[in-house]
Amino acid sequence: MNRLAKLFQLKNRRQLRALARTWKWGMTSQREQRWLRNYAACSYRGIGAIVDLGCLLGATTISLAEGLALNRNAKHTKIHAYDLFTWDEGFDAWAKGWAEGKEVEGLFTVGGSFLPEFLRRTEKWRNYIVVHEQDLQHARWEHGPIEFLFIDAMKSPEVAGAIASSFFPHLVPSKSYVAHQDFPHCFTPWIHYLTFRLRNYFSFVADLPQSSLFRLDREIEPQALASDLSPAAVSPGEIEAAFEYSVRLVRDDKKANVIAAKAMAYAARGEFTRAHEIMTQSRYGPKSRADEFRTVKALIQQKLAASKLSGDRM
Ligand SMILES: C[S@@+](CC[C@H](N)C(=O)[O-])C[C@H]1O[C@@H](n2cnc3c(N)ncnc32)[C@H](O)[C@@H]1O
Repeated sequence: MNRLAKLFQLKNRRQLRALARTWKWGMTSQREQRWLRNYAACSYRGIGAIVDLGCLLGATTISLAEGLALNRNAKHTKIHAYDLFTWDEGFDAWAKGWAEGKEVEGLFTVGGSFLPEFLRRTEKWRNYIVVHEQDLQHARWEHGPIEFLFIDAMKSPEVAGAIASSFFPHLVPSKSYVAHQDFPHCFTPWIHYLTFRLRNYFSFVADLPQSSLFRLDREIEPQALASDLSPAAVSPGEIEAAFEYSVRLVRDDKKANVIAAKAMAYAARGEFTRAHEIMTQSRYGPKSRADEFRTVKALIQQKLAASKLSGDRM
């Protein structure tokens, strides 16, 4: 390595260390944002786009842009940031729980757009970002190969299936990565059906602070991407196998959340007795991230009691 390149590397390392102490208000943790920044600065090779699905107010987009700015391979790389940019009650409740929420108090109405605020917050990184105000259930990717796909928007089985069909065919075998941000989230069990069904195409790479990271090994056959991820389309046998696979992938501190997602998979099918059995017989929990294990247990107890009551009445 020549002297100039060494100096460049040293300067970048110093900047990354300084940035590591920063955090952008959003739904991702400081450690997750640091991982994204470091990935974009040090590991990203410049062979395809970076795609940020579900960018909200830009926390993840900015982390990726900060990294890209320090990466010599980045050249003209853009971060494609997708969101509906529609404020809802859930965001209102979340914002109220943070001191930073004061910054947006009274700024948005439920059903209104938060795109102007995203643009304001990401202004400094404008040249790195392509904004897509779009429902991912209907999005089509037409911007060449994708090297890194960060997914924080698989909030329903339909959107999860649509994202897989539209974006996964553009990943480059042996080179592209997918990070599933909601892998340890209790209310998105379909992500586990998807990763299980595609397990022969992807390798699990790392358990990131929040996301689970996979690398594409070989091109995915189109029929594998067309599968239905809704509760009725998944058999109990597949639920068991999918979650056995997922639980093995995550660290101990996420296992109780994945078990809660498994119970929710049965609850979505109306199988409350099995869901309850999972929560009461689990060797993981009650300690879990964001106390999801306890939340799901209480929810399932309520559902089971209500279903017994309506059964008695019939
Ligand atoms: C959990 S938030 C993302 C948090 C963000 N990554 C961060 O670090 O702060 C999920 C985002 O997905 C977006 N979203 C949900 N469903 C979507 C859809 N069908 N199409 C596009 N965006 C969607 C929401 O508007 C929301 O901004």
